[in-house]
Amino acid sequence: MTVLWTADELIEATGGRPLGTMPDAVLGISIDTRSLVPGDAFFAIKGDTMDGHDFATAAIKAGARLLVVAEGKLPALGRLSAPMIVVPDVLAALEKTGVAARARAQAKIIAVTGSAGKTSTKEALRHALSAVGKVHASAASFNNHWGVPLTLARMHADCDYAIFEIGMNHEGEIRPLVKLVRPHVAIVTMVGAAHLGHFTSLDDIAKAKAEIFEGVFPGGAALVNRDDERWPLLARLAAEAGVSNVFGFGEDENAVYRLTNVALHADHSLISATIAGREIAARISVPGRHVVQNALAVLGAADLVGADVEKVALALGTLVAEAGRGRRHVLRHPRGPVTLIDESYNANPASMRAAIALLEATPVAGEGRRIAVLGDMLELGSHSAALHSELADVIAATRTDVVLLAGPEMKALAGALPEGTNFEYRSGAEELKPLLIDTVGPGDVVMIKSSKGIGFSRLVEALVNQFPAGAGNAAPS
Ligand SMILES: Nc1ncnc2c1ncn2[C@@H]1O[C@H](COP(=O)(O)OP(=O)(O)OP(=O)(O)O)[C@@H](O)[C@H]1O
Ligand SMILES: [Mg+2]
Repeated sequence: MTVLWTADELIEATGGRPLGTMPDAVLGISIDTRSLVPGDAFFAIKGDTMDGHDFATAAIKAGARLLVVAEGKLPALGRLSAPMIVVPDVLAALEKTGVAARARAQAKIIAVTGSAGKTSTKEALRHALSAVGKVHASAASFNNHWGVPLTLARMHADCDYAIFEIGMNHEGEIRPLVKLVRPHVAIVTMVGAAHLGHFTSLDDIAKAKAEIFEGVFPGGAALVNRDDERWPLLARLAAEAGVSNVFGFGEDENAVYRLTNVALHADHSLISATIAGREIAARISVPGRHVVQNALAVLGAADLVGADVEKVALALGTLVAEAGRGRRHVLRHPRGPVTLIDESYNANPASMRAAIALLEATPVAGEGRRIAVLGDMLELGSHSAALHSELADVIAATRTDVVLLAGPEMKALAGALPEGTNFEYRSGAEELKPLLIDTVGPGDVVMIKSSKGIGFSRLVEALVNQFPAGAGNAAPS
């Protein structure tokens, strides 16, 4: 492990007051003792339910070299004799450390927002740009008021590329975060009904996403889904934010990063694209039309940061789907293999459509069937019932043979499915589990998708335990 920050640098960045014998340097930054690595500095952030100061002793036990704590909490920390930097506000100190990291960075910085596909695109960028340089990127979906400054503060001075996921539930959340990140390239993957609960329309969502353009580094670029209905609005807002380089990616003929040909296969896609006037062919080793769209954003961003696009395109051939985001398992059912597509990480109308299309594109074997196992899409507010029932048309237009539904919101879809649809509804994931295990048979393709809160990852676990799997990217042949 190499030095991330010297203690002097951290004191200067946070503007804090050192207390005790400072170490020379720290190797990382942590805000959670469960994932703390020896050598880290522990920032005692106060979250919604927990206060990091309550974990100060645990942090030292886990190997934290120094603690960043709030002045007001000092009396409560009692006789703790660890080295500390004392600040008025720990989250503000983390932000300041992030600002210092950004100021010293030589890296090309890319920020990703959108209603779906932020993490998938961020991870595809991490993977592909690793072929051409040292990459730093957000862990998991660390895209909020603590995740973004934490990711910044963790950025080493010598990385070549850094990728930040920026998310939001409300208007006004992206603006302060992107002003910390100051990206050279700001990507909007797509605009759709996610977290709609706090918004009245998709235009309002687009406007909130467009805040990302307000932090673009001078001379930087906006990279926006050209196929999205809200491209004109987003392009206008980017220009209004002072971004003069606004580029589109997609199959639209006006896209600068344009898909010219695509073949979607069960376990990969082949694409041809014009990337800033150059013809690029690529094999993308994760299937799905939405993955192709994310890959175009990757190629566009790679071009905009001056990376070798040919090498980046080649690296798309070794992409691996993230757990819960399209990862495949081949289950060993006693009577023959079953393909399981794990989409249990989250769901909104756009990603539901993408996943149903993925199921449609995946061939069954022999007598096998396509089984869609769908749970509630959360955070859709008053639009929820309508957005759930609308999926009936999506399903009816595909060769989905069996539909298994669970969750209070999915009742609306159960009521809307056309007569003759082979479907079952249960109240929750636990209630659906035995039926799912009974239903699955040899040759089937099963796609499991819901918002995380509904717990459909337990259904994935149940199937994998029942029919011990060989995880992989392949469909049964
Ligand atoms: N470009 C896309 N368009 C539509 N759906 C997509 C796209 N990319 C990924 N998805 C779908 O969205 C799901 C979630 O993807 P991902 O985790 O990348 O989204 P996210 O924007 O990071 O979500 P979160 O807001 O939870 O952080 C995937 O499993 C896939 O089904
Ligand atoms: Mg995410």
